[in-house]
Amino acid sequence: MAEQPSSAVEARGGFFLSFEGMDGAGKGTQIDLLVELLSALGLHPVVNREPGGTLIGQQIRTILLDAANSHLRPTAELLLYFASRAQAVDEVILPALGRGELVITDRFTDSTLVYQGMARGLGTQVVEHLDAISCRGLVPDLTILLDIDPATSLARTSARNAATASTETRLDEESREFHTRVREGYLALATANPHRVVVVDGSPGPREIANAIFEVVLPRLLLGPMAPLEANP
Ligand code: TYD
Repeated sequence: MAEQPSSAVEARGGFFLSFEGMDGAGKGTQIDLLVELLSALGLHPVVNREPGGTLIGQQIRTILLDAANSHLRPTAELLLYFASRAQAVDEVILPALGRGELVITDRFTDSTLVYQGMARGLGTQVVEHLDAISCRGLVPDLTILLDIDPATSLARTSARNAATASTETRLDEESREFHTRVREGYLALATANPHRVVVVDGSPGPREIANAIFEVVLPRLLLGPMAPLEANP
């Protein structure tokens, strides 16, 4: 997605940080660890999750991830992700940024670009159009892409689903090719947006990854939202 400021970005303060990655990449764990580290510094981020993040978003999440909804059509799926996001942007994210707060989101439009636009084959243009309507130009200041390979993703999600008896398995049941396209899509996005998206290896232990993330995030927080980031090496 193009790295351009827009009305929503110009009008706001705060700092908007997104986490992206394949299923099982460890985003949830890393967001928890980052919140813990930041809290020790007196920073208390607002955390959003997609799909979900608001009460309405949680209801949309149930429809999206329920394994019983295997007949959900790709266009309906796409619109539901954006419905959840539009609600979160208006209800949670923009108000918090307006108060100058740090907002951390577990997934944002990059997920839709990669999963629906690229892996599902709907194309990135339609995703960008819907993003313009739903997010009105709100783009993360920094995106941490936790990178794991498809085999690790499948192994971790099957283990998690078996342990929790989760019904949120509709996407996990996609083919290995789908998950390979997701990874390739994410890496292409990082290459296209080197100033915003930082790739972090998601394969070591959680504490090691958390340290790597903290080293990326802290200088950016100190510099502020619009400060330029060194491109990925
Ligand atoms: P998530 O709860 O982040 O799952 P996990 O913790 O396993 O990473 O996301 C649920 C699923 O929704 C995941 O398979 C990715 C998918 N998804 C999309 O396909 N498009 C989107 O726009 C978003 C936000 C998520």
